[in-house]
Amino acid sequence: MRVGVIGGGQMGAGIAEVCARSGVDVTVVEADEAGVERARAAIERSLDRAVRSGKASEEDKAAALDHLVVTSVFEDLEGADAAIEAVVENEALKRDVFRRLDELLPDAQFLASNTSSVPIMKLGAETKRPGRVLGMHFFNPVPVLPLVELVTSIMTEPETVESVRAFAEGTLGKQCIDSQDRAGFVVNALLIPYLLSAIRMYESGFASKEDIDQGMVLGCAHPMGPLRLSDLIGLDTLLAVAESLHDEFRDPASVSPALLNRMVEAGLLGRKTGRGFYDYSK
Ligand code: 3HC
Repeated sequence: MRVGVIGGGQMGAGIAEVCARSGVDVTVVEADEAGVERARAAIERSLDRAVRSGKASEEDKAAALDHLVVTSVFEDLEGADAAIEAVVENEALKRDVFRRLDELLPDAQFLASNTSSVPIMKLGAETKRPGRVLGMHFFNPVPVLPLVELVTSIMTEPETVESVRAFAEGTLGKQCIDSQDRAGFVVNALLIPYLLSAIRMYESGFASKEDIDQGMVLGCAHPMGPLRLSDLIGLDTLLAVAESLHDEFRDPASVSPALLNRMVEAGLLGRKTGRGFYDYSK
């Protein structure tokens, strides 16, 4: 099987790595040569980490890299059996990717999106076969977290869902839950209001960022606190999901705090840019 992954950022690189480690041929498309280099380096770093922690051998790493092609030429996807889109959370960009995938891969088994904020139906509507379009929502870090949310639009065919479930569980070794196509799906509908209230708590001066994070780690056994987790997710992505939740439900809990807006405007996007609530530059 050959899968195309469109976008080699934090999520796309993780998805590509998981595919390649499962023996699936994967072609990652990035926007330009700098993106190609960044994506390849991120995947190699993550494979090195797996080797260091004993989760993979040098041979496993070499085999995974053999399954991987990273390119800046969209047409290199031609002939792929399926595609997973993982570009930034920008609706116009994602719609354009689906239009192009529909033209380039007329026989693909499925066209999936890793979106956390764009309705799957809007992406399906860009194609001539919305029955084969669905959400395949991975969690960050993708090589570590087992969950994939399968998101069906009102047009997704049941056979498509079952073939993607077989791929995610049988081939990639992930575990799936099902969600309808509404903002936030299952996990983000619960998680994002919590992260936004932690940011509001910090913004109001009620507690320090360290104490807010320690509170949830030590008091609730979360692996990381909400501000550190926001930095891991990426503050631009967090904002995009908050906006999609607010557009759909008008719930005050999903209004983006002013501090989050200012940080995104300043380019303080979290780990991926070296600074968010915490400094990662060293
Ligand atoms: N790539 C590959 N492996 C990684 C990794 C990465 N980016 N980050 C961590 N790991 C591996 C490590 O190698 C380590 O493996 P080992 O146990 O075999 O040595 C293991 O994961 C644990 O890592 P660390 O010891 O470095 O650090 P922690 O124990 O603190 O775990 C963490 C780090 C896995 C990030 C953990 O803190 C965690 O699970 N945090 C919560 C993450 C979370 O909630 N993600 C969901 C975000 S929501 C989302 O993605 C949806 C979107 O739409 C918003």
